[in-house]
Amino acid sequence: MLVETKTANLEDLKRMAAEAAIMYVRDGQVVGLGTGSTARYVVLALGERVKAGLAIKGVATSRETAELARRSGIPLLETEDAWAIDVDIDGADQVDPQINLVKGGGGALLKEKIVAAAARQVIIVVDHTKRVPCLGNPFPLPVEVIPFGWGSTARQLDDLGLKPVLRERNGQIFRTEAGHYILDLHIGRIENPAELEIRLNVIPGVVETGLFVGRTDLLIVGTPGGVEVQQGVRQ
Ligand code: 5RP
Repeated sequence: MLVETKTANLEDLKRMAAEAAIMYVRDGQVVGLGTGSTARYVVLALGERVKAGLAIKGVATSRETAELARRSGIPLLETEDAWAIDVDIDGADQVDPQINLVKGGGGALLKEKIVAAAARQVIIVVDHTKRVPCLGNPFPLPVEVIPFGWGSTARQLDDLGLKPVLRERNGQIFRTEAGHYILDLHIGRIENPAELEIRLNVIPGVVETGLFVGRTDLLIVGTPGGVEVQQGVRQ
């Protein structure tokens, strides 16, 4: 019973953050649509505004989001296009005090990073439990890897002490939308996310990491005391 109450509260906080974020969306804009349970509230709230006359176009970061956007009446741009995205709104698994993020809990990190990089403004929406003093433990860092030779890629990560675990779902290897695998790295504290991102990206077979360093313009946090907004510094 207590768990149910807590869950309901967290959902309210996610929704609060999402509804605050969509106030930044203007008529005529192209909007990046993130993936996950918090981004879902963004899509639902934007859908309500579209029904009320807001003219926007969306770029979805996953099939799941694309489907929800279509059902909510949000027109989507082709995914294989060169977009000019005005604002991207997405969730995160962890947020540190400098607004560096771990993302990829839902496995959409590659598309999420491509869309964030293509956006003029990136807004991250979370509930307050996502805030951590330092990225890392207990949340593993997702790394998207090519299936070809994934075991060798994993061994290189293991040699660096990063404890990779191949992600599975329902007893099957989890496949990202691009058909890749995910290795979840069970790292302790990520003291220097920028340096780790570079170290990971030079390993052959690594497609992308769930580290989003210096990629956020605005963080919107749903807390029991209300919505908090923190300005980021995009690098
Ligand atoms: C998916 C993501 C999500 O943004 C992240 O997992 C947060 O999801 P939720 O809002 O459900 O906690 O990166 O790849």
